[in-house]
Amino acid sequence: MANGSVVVVGGTQGLGRELAQSYADESRAVIVTGREQLRAENAAREIGRNTRGIGFDLADPHTIAGRLEDVDDVDHLVLAAIERDSNKVREYDIDAALRLVTLKLVGYTEVIHVLAPRLRGSILIYGGLARDRPYPGSTTVTTVNGGVTSLVRTLVIELAPTRVNALHPAIVGDSPQWRDMAPERHKALVDRTPIGRLVTMAEVVGASRFLLENGAMNGISLNVDGGWMCM
Ligand SMILES: NC(=O)c1ccc[n+]([C@@H]2O[C@H](COP(=O)([O-])OP(=O)(O)OC[C@H]3O[C@@H](n4cnc5c(N)ncnc54)[C@H](OP(=O)(O)O)[C@@H]3O)[C@@H](O)[C@H]2O)c1
Repeated sequence: MANGSVVVVGGTQGLGRELAQSYADESRAVIVTGREQLRAENAAREIGRNTRGIGFDLADPHTIAGRLEDVDDVDHLVLAAIERDSNKVREYDIDAALRLVTLKLVGYTEVIHVLAPRLRGSILIYGGLARDRPYPGSTTVTTVNGGVTSLVRTLVIELAPTRVNALHPAIVGDSPQWRDMAPERHKALVDRTPIGRLVTMAEVVGASRFLLENGAMNGISLNVDGGWMCM
């Protein structure tokens, strides 16, 4: 191991990028992807060392195989991309739902289909706690995050002995998505978190690397939530 690359789909920003950075800092070959080629290349340059950027849209799954054609010898594959969709069933936006369902279930699966023959290590898929704690507008997000858990279970069987796990973070306080939230909102969230603070990107990176690297971890859907689900 450790001669191939760590591929982070959705690695241009946020949790995926933080994980990519941790591997790049150890001089591992890293590939980060996002929707646009130029933005992916810029993110790769900022991450530095032996990092490369590739652009493709997960919601356009027929294009994925071509964009990943020259990626060989993959050590670990991480699927972290998300386009957030606030969608209530009474005001249903079909196009928004189709994009998120396609990118997170079909797009993720197509990436795995393409790279599985070139993969030596394990696969990690990001979901989220909206899976178990829905909120108004989370209909599509809750559905796809539930799908992530089911996807992991079938992939463990189909790709054996390749290990496949999922990680479901609670709200990550220092992630780009949440770090500028209003103080009242932040306080309300902290009040519902037993550790008295929101989880951090570094903690999500640590948990991600545990799932990717520990050879006993397989078929796990791990909450990284500071005890949120106990409340
Ligand atoms: N942040 C949190 O607190 C939190 C909480 C629960 C769950 N999660 C989960 O953790 C994962 C990472 O979340 P995050 O907050 O770090 O995300 P983020 O900062 O919003 O970054 C999203 C990433 O996905 C890429 N992306 C978006 N749409 C794409 C598409 N159609 N095709 C290809 N790539 C696409 C983006 O690339 P470009 O912008 O370059 O296109 C970017 O790299 C997600 O699965 C999310 O559901 C996060």
